[in-house]
Amino acid sequence: MKVVGGSASVPLAREIARELRAAYVEVAFEKHPGGFPDGERYVRLLGSVADEHVVLVQTTHPDPMIVEFLLLTDAIHDAGARRLTAVVPYFGYGRQDKRFSEGEAVSAETIGKHVAVAANELLTMTIHNPDILKTFPVPARDIDGIPALGRYLKNTDVDLLLAPDGNAIRFAKTASAICGKPYDHLEKERIDSYTVKITPKKLDVRGKSVAIVDDVISTGGTIATAARELRSQGARRVIAACVHGLFVGKANVNLRVCDEVIATDTVQSPYTKVSVAPEFAAAIRALG
Ligand code: R5P
Repeated sequence: MKVVGGSASVPLAREIARELRAAYVEVAFEKHPGGFPDGERYVRLLGSVADEHVVLVQTTHPDPMIVEFLLLTDAIHDAGARRLTAVVPYFGYGRQDKRFSEGEAVSAETIGKHVAVAANELLTMTIHNPDILKTFPVPARDIDGIPALGRYLKNTDVDLLLAPDGNAIRFAKTASAICGKPYDHLEKERIDSYTVKITPKKLDVRGKSVAIVDDVISTGGTIATAARELRSQGARRVIAACVHGLFVGKANVNLRVCDEVIATDTVQSPYTKVSVAPEFAAAIRALG
């Protein structure tokens, strides 16, 4: 088995290779220093993958990483790999998982159709709606990334986990089972892509250290609104923990209300503090 990492996921791909005791195949991402002037992607495998089972690790965010993913799948096939397992740590476009209004594309299906087609199977993590994987052209499985956050939180001074909305209760519950801290939740209403409204609810947080647990932090609006509610109720310390840290728009400003922000390496960022390599390595070993 050999592991290849796209440029969105090199550190995680290396960690997965280490966990699996598999060779890591380096990739050149620039033909000339500085890359193509028009921003087009380029890949060249710098090691052999002939007759190998290759694990390609690449998050499909931001958009150029989708193109790079497609280039890598063809490069791996053309170089004679016998099997290709696609690992998409963060599945970009996963949140548009249905046609909310007539005429829309079901983006998650569209991206799945194209990125999975050249692979023998696909693994992703904490995707918004795992049911969408049934529409993919090859077997696809969702791996839970929350246990990695639970492992991290176990060694902190956190007293309580908080789900910022009803959908996130399952995340707080899973993390709670691993780190052994209790959990509670708030109710959120999304007004638009940048604004959310949290229904005030009395929480037992006075003087406590609280970790807000969610699958994705995008603009940080959800976390900031929940964090302000916690502060107003006397929380001593507020931590934001997510699997996928996109941190777009004014996220850095929004997240100033938190004492600490924790994200995994599904999306590499300055907040990446915990690796999901053990989760992916276990799932790859289980493929047989
Ligand atoms: C929503 O379904 C997700 O679980 C997150 O709460 C959401 O994507 C976070 O977005 P933002 O950081 O922009 O509030």
